[in-house]
Amino acid sequence: MPAQVFRALRLSLARRVQGQQRAVSQDELMKTRSYGDQVRTNESGNMAKLAPNKWDANAPMEWFCHVKAAGLGGFWPWAMTPLVCLVASLLGKFLYENVHGQDQYDGQIADMKKDHKMSLHADTVKKIMAIKESNPGNIAIASFDEAEFAGMSEADQARLVKIMASGIGNPGSEMGCYAMNPTDYDDFHTFFKKALGRYHKVNLDEKKHSNDWELKGKAGLPADGVLDVSKFGITEPLSMRIRTARNLKKFPLAGAMSEDDRKNMELAMGPVFEALIKNPEFGGSYNSLTPGHPNKISEEKYQELVKAHIMFKDMSADSFLVDAGIAAHWPHGRGCYVSEDKGFIIWVGEEDHLRIMAMAKSLKINSVFDRLKAAIDKVEDLIPGGCAKSADFGVITSCPTNMGTGMRASVHIKIPNLTKGGSDEKAVSILKPYNLGVRGLGGEHTPIGADGTVDISPKGRFCISEAEIAIALYTGVDKVMQEESKA
Ligand code: ARG
Repeated sequence: MPAQVFRALRLSLARRVQGQQRAVSQDELMKTRSYGDQVRTNESGNMAKLAPNKWDANAPMEWFCHVKAAGLGGFWPWAMTPLVCLVASLLGKFLYENVHGQDQYDGQIADMKKDHKMSLHADTVKKIMAIKESNPGNIAIASFDEAEFAGMSEADQARLVKIMASGIGNPGSEMGCYAMNPTDYDDFHTFFKKALGRYHKVNLDEKKHSNDWELKGKAGLPADGVLDVSKFGITEPLSMRIRTARNLKKFPLAGAMSEDDRKNMELAMGPVFEALIKNPEFGGSYNSLTPGHPNKISEEKYQELVKAHIMFKDMSADSFLVDAGIAAHWPHGRGCYVSEDKGFIIWVGEEDHLRIMAMAKSLKINSVFDRLKAAIDKVEDLIPGGCAKSADFGVITSCPTNMGTGMRASVHIKIPNLTKGGSDEKAVSILKPYNLGVRGLGGEHTPIGADGTVDISPKGRFCISEAEIAIALYTGVDKVMQEESKA
């Protein structure tokens, strides 16, 4: 018994630390007790008979009764009985929910539903159909086809439910799903084709994605080939950053990784970082957050890197990432490589296995774009097992919003007129028709700078080439400056 209590406390603590919810609540369990008239469990829990050797949902209640009986039988002073009952039932409930809950619950439900030929995901499908009504903008939910789902194997149904978990948990999602494996985009081709087409506003029956970093010959490139924003009246160099994403083919994507997968993926990247550190064009260091990793950095150093916008934040504050399983096992398998001049960075273990980025204060977008291109060429060749790519959809990323190029090219730009009052609302709506996104300086879902500085980036990632994104940023800056002077 003490060992069970100890295990319960440890598991409960671990779940809380990982930001996970308690396995299953007593209320949820109670729901399993009847399925219409097919199975009616009585107060002492026929469920236990249906699933032998398992505790049933009534266990805490039964404990309560036994303890009460013992009390009435004179094991302790009569007046203590209410207190003893209370403690016993709370303990029973706690053990039930934290130790036996998950396995038991999953097992029971699965067995019962099978016995009664019910869909294992009937409740989830019901929830999805309700969100379809309440949140028509949730793209994953809108792309879900009930009939198609019903025709899938049990294993595929479970996979698709996991893919959609963040959109189900966050009905207000815009995208509402994350791939869990590099092969998901092919294995669930119909679902992802619809979702990608909707989000990126492309008809994938007509268009195909292709990757291309060559600026030459692309529409919008100035004759001299230089994407120089000083042409738009900007005199001070801007903070520019271009990132792309890559995932190692041989590991599950971030939402489906075990703690060991995360650690092994980071270790697999070790030789790549060593090669970069040895190369005088890069140099720098690898900083790991993983306990026991040879390059583990201190908490202070980590905070310093976060402040300098070099390292990413603990992802547990992002409910999308938490529900998708992407934030799990923090800080295991998390880290970042930083070049000597801090202008080239590789994040390890965020939303994608790798986020590869180049940054500089500059007036010329080419300086950042060219550096990223040169670095990608080096890094991609060294990646053990290669990077996940799809013939139809290009570079594979965990979130479908990044598919294709995985590229986000941005500048920090001061637009006090468009952000009067401290909100980016006006800037967002004015720049939307130009397909430009506006963010705070701390990344996605963060507030804008006090002086009206925002992060602007072209929204396209898919069915657009890398070169076209760089040019879209250039023409975007022009548009922003024009709108700012009008505002
Ligand atoms: N999952 C969120 C949604 O569906 C965010 C999607 C885009 N952001 C990202 N970091 N992938 O709205």
